[in-house]
Amino acid sequence: ASLSQDELKKQAAWKAVEYVSSNMVVGLGTGSTAAFAVDRIGQLMKEGKLTNIIGVPTSIRTYEQAKALGIPLATLDDQPHIDVAIDGADEVDPNLDVVKGRGGALLREKMVEMASDKFVCIVDDSKMVSGLGGSKLAMPIEIVQFCHKYTLSRLAKLSEVAGCEAKLRMEGDKPYVTDNHNFIVDLYFQEPIKDGRKASDAILALEGVVDHGLFLDMVDVCIIAGKTGVEVKER
Ligand code: A5P
Repeated sequence: ASLSQDELKKQAAWKAVEYVSSNMVVGLGTGSTAAFAVDRIGQLMKEGKLTNIIGVPTSIRTYEQAKALGIPLATLDDQPHIDVAIDGADEVDPNLDVVKGRGGALLREKMVEMASDKFVCIVDDSKMVSGLGGSKLAMPIEIVQFCHKYTLSRLAKLSEVAGCEAKLRMEGDKPYVTDNHNFIVDLYFQEPIKDGRKASDAILALEGVVDHGLFLDMVDVCIIAGKTGVEVKER
């Protein structure tokens, strides 16, 4: 990523942290954009501008980052109610439906963000698409390891995602393993998904599927940083 894209991610992240106030339980996202928000929260806590914050991380990576910053942490088991969650996305459509999970953290992200009063999504403007799946990048699906080839072939045959290519995500010569010890199948679409809800239902109905990277009706606020400024869109 160029320096200026990082600068945009940081601008969106800092704006999102304005939604955090003292005494809040905060969902901490995963990825290069969310990392700027986690750093910012740590910084404001050190300066005494935010106090009594509890962070709920969405991945082991974010857990490590937040711990190093001295942010007190909890899980959904201890803190089932989250005030604000801040996280990045891979694609954002005009309705603020998003695709997440290119970083592999989709399941914990979805659990934490579903538990949040407010989900603030932060992106640079390169993530904006007219339809989900339109960026030609992957839409991830977390599946159990057991008979993953079978599940992959069933996913590829779903009419709701017709024409897409399904590939097991690799890391070197081994399948990529998520924080939850599952595998990821990446779907590559030829054209944007026509009906996200139908695709979501069909994918979730397959045994062996744990969850997918379509986050529909979840984003409350989207902060989009572009060369000409930072835009805040509310659902
Ligand atoms: C992690 O699993 C993802 O959902 C990330 O939030 C998403 O991939 C955005 O990451 P970047 O901010 O690094 O683009």
